[in-house]
Amino acid sequence: MFNPFKPERAIIKDIIKETTDTTTYTFSFLDEGVRREFRFRPGQFNMLTIFGIGEAPISISSNPAEPETFQHTVRHVGNVTKFLSKMQPGDIVGIRGPYGTGWPLDVLPIKNLLIIAGGIGLAPLRPVIHEVIDRRPEFGQVEVLYGARTPAELLYPAEYEAWRQAGISLLLTVDAVPSGTAWEGQVGVVTDLFRQMSSRPGETAVFTCGPEIMMSYVVKGLLARGFKPEQIYVSLERRMNCGVKKCGKCQIGPKFVCRDGPVFAYAELLTLPEEVLGGAVR
Ligand SMILES: Cc1cc2nc3c(=O)[nH]c(=O)nc-3n(C[C@H](O)[C@H](O)[C@H](O)COP(=O)(O)OP(=O)(O)OC[C@H]3O[C@@H](n4cnc5c(N)ncnc54)[C@H](O)[C@@H]3O)c2cc1C
Ligand code: FES
Repeated sequence: MFNPFKPERAIIKDIIKETTDTTTYTFSFLDEGVRREFRFRPGQFNMLTIFGIGEAPISISSNPAEPETFQHTVRHVGNVTKFLSKMQPGDIVGIRGPYGTGWPLDVLPIKNLLIIAGGIGLAPLRPVIHEVIDRRPEFGQVEVLYGARTPAELLYPAEYEAWRQAGISLLLTVDAVPSGTAWEGQVGVVTDLFRQMSSRPGETAVFTCGPEIMMSYVVKGLLARGFKPEQIYVSLERRMNCGVKKCGKCQIGPKFVCRDGPVFAYAELLTLPEEVLGGAVR
């Protein structure tokens, strides 16, 4: 009988160390049929199992046009992710998914796109950037504002040139520059980049992901600049067990982050009884 909780076996094909505590893994399903049928949308996540250890929800961080080998960018913070940090290419993990709604790239008539990410929050937005580059003529102005704690903690720096070549405006900032580090860019929080950005509310969708405190300031700043709650999409993190709306662990009022999210329009969050993003704006 089909068991939706049984993970498929996937092999680690490649490992890229991004920062001191974050790594990008390339996976491929062992079963050829599963490998061929696997598809995902930007913003969706998988439940990643380390057999005998546990399971964690992790966003897919690679190009949806190349689903046969997909990537997860993982920050090593607890049981599953720290165990993963000891694994090598050729080791086997379990994957079930993809789950969740994803960013509404195909749902909305999006002309201009403003992407705002903090730290590892860039991981679920990187598939959006890949897709935008693949479908570039369909979009107008595309701008990315990205902040990390230090220059060494910026994710995917080797790709920035290709993003800019594709006509994406990329503004970077870091919270601090450790002595001895070369950095000529902006120092400050991601919302400081609002002063330099050229995005304006008209016909622009905003996708943001990062720590909730960051997203709360992002939302406040955008609303103050005339963006509407319906234009702003945030990706939420909640602790999860099942990933498929069965256990209630990720529930916020009537919504389940695993199935109804993790991406929500900010306008939708305003209808929930529980305060999200620290009750950024009511
Ligand atoms: C939709 C979604 C997408 C995500 N995408 C990514 C991603 O792309 N990359 C990534 O690195 N992470 C991602 N995460 C976060 C990741 O799932 C968590 O960090 C997860 O807890 C890691 O599992 P772990 O077993 O390694 O850590 P855990 O052992 O679960 O510990 C993680 C942290 O939570 C604390 N903690 C443990 N138990 C509890 C508890 N009951 N209540 C509160 N805190 C607790 C621990 O002290 C530790 O600091 C995502 C989460 C969601 C919901
Ligand atoms: S994780 Fe079980 S309902 Fe969402």
